[in-house]
This record gives sequence, structure tokens and C-alpha cells, in this order.
Amino acid sequence: MNTDRTDRPPAAKKVCVIGASGKLGRHMVRHALERGHEVVGVCRPKSVPKLAEFEGRITVMPGATDDRAVIEEAVRGCDAVLTVLVPWGTHHYATNTARAVLDFAPPKARLVFSCGWHISRDGKDVYTRKAKIQEAVLGRLAKLLRVVDLDDQIEACRRVFDSDTDWTVVRGSDLKEGESQGLPVWARHVGDPVLDSNLTHRVDYALFMVEAVENDALIREAPAIVGRLTPSALAHAEDRGR
Ligand SMILES: NC(=O)c1ccc[n+]([C@@H]2O[C@H](COP(=O)([O-])OP(=O)(O)OC[C@H]3O[C@@H](n4cnc5c(N)ncnc54)[C@H](OP(=O)(O)O)[C@@H]3O)[C@@H](O)[C@H]2O)c1
Repeated sequence: MNTDRTDRPPAAKKVCVIGASGKLGRHMVRHALERGHEVVGVCRPKSVPKLAEFEGRITVMPGATDDRAVIEEAVRGCDAVLTVLVPWGTHHYATNTARAVLDFAPPKARLVFSCGWHISRDGKDVYTRKAKIQEAVLGRLAKLLRVVDLDDQIEACRRVFDSDTDWTVVRGSDLKEGESQGLPVWARHVGDPVLDSNLTHRVDYALFMVEAVENDALIREAPAIVGRLTPSALAHAEDRGR
């Protein structure tokens, strides 16, 4: 699947999707291709077959997303890097992925990272009691089983927030599959009533990530998103003009 294209339309960009074979990653690849972007996808070697539908249309670089040599090569010459931040295992996978992207992406590249509402940039997010308990219990259990380390994603995002790159950290609500409802609406802080419905279709999460590349108003923002046709978005989005 190595098609290093040089024939992309003038407005199109070279975009690297890190974690391209996952559910969010594949939606992002589709959106990016629809916009005429040239796409480089990084995914674990065993997951390359999950990208078969894009055969001949993207360049695939097999490798772990925390492999610095793979990331260095994958992001070379890219205008944008879309990174699925996942805190798998207990060896700082997300932090090392973020570090590699921050270290090797070209200086003016737009960097867009995914994570969940549990990440707080400034401590001003307001969480429900249920969310706090869920995070504490599930987070501790997952760490104990050495499956997932939420603190790793927190550390990864802290490094992004502290960097002087053109980053956006897109904080996803609960997700589900389903038809697109259009671009999600967002708020600067969890706890904003526009987010109350806490649900976004994954295809639209990916849309927000890809559209963020073109939206300079989102540079150094950590938008918390929700589906635009959810009850809370319909009730409150107009107040904010989003
Ligand atoms: N799930 C939710 O409800 C939810 C809610 C809010 C935010 N988010 C955020 O959305 C993003 C995507 O999450 P998702 O849940 O929707 O999953 P996803 O898109 O399917 O992505 C999972 C990613 O993790 C990789 N992965 C799986 N097992 C791994 C392992 N053992 N070691 C290394 N990498 C592994 C997958 O790669 P392979 O293809 O190689 O398996 C894939 O790239 C994440 O940043 C997450 O924080 C998710």
C-alpha cells in the first residue's frame, strides 16, 4: 500500500493518521481521503489488514505508535498529524506516542490528538459523581490488571498542553457507531450544559478531528465534544453560535 502521491489538489494536505487501523482511525482516514488529502497511516503490523479497504490510496507504515523511528519517518513532510492517544499497558504508551509526535512533526504542522472527557487542561471541568466514581474504579482496576493506565493519557496530554506546537486535544464523550449527524458541537469545559447528553457518533468524532486541521480557532484548545443532534446540543448549541 505504498503510494507516495504527489498529485494531490492544491488545497489538500499531507496528513498522518497515527493509530489508523482502529475504529476512530479508519473513520479519520475516510474523511481525510474524501477531502483529497494524501494520507500516511501508522498502525501495528498485525493490524495492517484492517486497512485493506484503503489499498492503493494511502501509505501504510507498520509499527507501534510509540516507535520513535517509525513516527519520525511517518510524519516527515506532513502538514497535519492526527493521533489516536491510547493508554494501553503500563509502559507509557500514550506518553511516548505524544513525545514522538511532538519531537518529530514539522514545526508548523497542525497536531490533533484524541482523548476522553476525563482529561482536564486547566482543572475547571466539572464532573458528575457517576463519572468520578467510574473513572476511579475502572481506572484503578484497569491499572491493576496492567491493561490500561489512564495516568499515562493524562501525562501524554500534559506534554501536549505544555508544548509550543499548533496542537488541539479533542476530548470525546461516550462514543457509539451510527450514521453521521454532522460536526459535533463543543465546549471548553466538561460540565457545560451543552454536553449533558454525553454521546457522539464515532464517525463524527473523526470528522471533528479532521476538520480541526483547517480550523485555526482550535489551535491550543481542548474542546470537549458532543453529537450535534443530541438533546443537550439541540437545547444549548444556539446560545453559543457553534
Ligand atoms: N471508547 C470510548 O467510548 C471513548 C470515549 C471518549 C474518548 N475516546 C477516545 O477515542 C480514541 C479512540 O478510542 P476507541 O475506544 O474508539 O478505540 P479505537 O478507535 O478502536 O482505537 C483503539 C486503538 O488502540 C490500538 N490498540 C488496541 N490494543 C492495543 C494494544 N494492546 N497495544 C497498542 N495499541 C492497541 C488500536 O490499534 P489496532 O488497530 O492495532 O488494534 C487502535 O489504534 C482514544 O483516544 C480514546 O481515548 C474513546
